[in-house]
Amino acid sequence: MQTRITKLFGIRHPIIQGGMHYVGFAELAAAVSNAGGLGIITALTQKTPELLAREISRCRSMTDQPIGVNLTFLPTFSEPPYAEYIQAIAEGGVRIVETAGRSPQAYMPGLKAAGIKVIHKCTSVRHALKAQQIGCDAVSVDGFECGGHPGEDDIPNMILLPRAADELSIPFVASGGMADARSLVAALALGADGINMGTRFVATKEAPVHENVKRAIVEATELDTRLVMRPLRNTERVLKNAGVDRLLEIEREKGEALQISDVYEQVAGVYPKVMVGGEMDAGAWSCGMVAGLIHDIPSVKELIDRIMADARRIIRSRMAEMLEPHAQREAELLA
Ligand SMILES: Cc1cc2nc3c(=O)[nH]c(=O)nc-3n(C[C@H](O)[C@H](O)[C@H](O)COP(=O)(O)O)c2cc1C
Repeated sequence: MQTRITKLFGIRHPIIQGGMHYVGFAELAAAVSNAGGLGIITALTQKTPELLAREISRCRSMTDQPIGVNLTFLPTFSEPPYAEYIQAIAEGGVRIVETAGRSPQAYMPGLKAAGIKVIHKCTSVRHALKAQQIGCDAVSVDGFECGGHPGEDDIPNMILLPRAADELSIPFVASGGMADARSLVAALALGADGINMGTRFVATKEAPVHENVKRAIVEATELDTRLVMRPLRNTERVLKNAGVDRLLEIEREKGEALQISDVYEQVAGVYPKVMVGGEMDAGAWSCGMVAGLIHDIPSVKELIDRIMADARRIIRSRMAEMLEPHAQREAELLA
């Protein structure tokens, strides 16, 4: 399958693995790229630019296919040295960066000078248009369903994707709620050039996270995510657990007066506890509604091959057959 995204990034299948804190290590990124998708290392999981450089070179030793690096500009307790992270990315020979959170505008000249293609992840048409205007090569359009930060507009992909298709001229991928061939074909029908998946890739053999995390995703239904930090305008979709229940209780108690420091215990330093330690009640970690569509823990290659084979079947058989009786009747009328 060829789309504007496969051509832009030089990949075989229009499937991207979104950056994921404490999940997007070299092992997962290499597995996705080797399977023909685009694997992405998450920069800020590496505590320094030097460690990111090491992670990139570890990934390079596992794949000769294109890989990307995610740079997330979110409110953190201290601002990371972004320019130095970009230098590590450029020197590591990576030519694709997924930006997310705030606009990457300030870093575009540096990224472009290094010959890097930028795909910006955003949750609204206006931010997607802004990304196009500042020279991003593509965007990843993240609907309200998504695991992580869905923004504050709450527009699901059924509306957001065709809206983006109507407005954008650069290629874009659908992100949020994507799990299988049905998601891919639907996203293509709505105007996207491919899909970006987060939660689905966490529940794979190669994702270097604790087995409890994978099991929790398989056991979860589409009803088991919660939105946290909305009063701080930093909304995050996470999997419900005891830590998240406590966080929501604090949000209810504090109301509009909520400060980030009130929920520090439930949001800071949670990822290593969950992803490495398997402590499933430690606090807020991103997970999409798509958990309701995830029932197994395949290898990345099994997952991607299955998506591509099923997508061909849906397009060639299921959809083509829907047109066939009509085509026959047309032929009869013309005869
Ligand atoms: C565990 C986890 C951690 C994530 N961490 C990040 C991150 O650090 N930076 C980022 O831009 N997106 C992050 N995301 C969002 C994903 O890249 C992707 O946009 C999102 O998961 C898509 O929605 P889906 O989970 O429904 O597939 C994370 C998602 C998950 C599930």
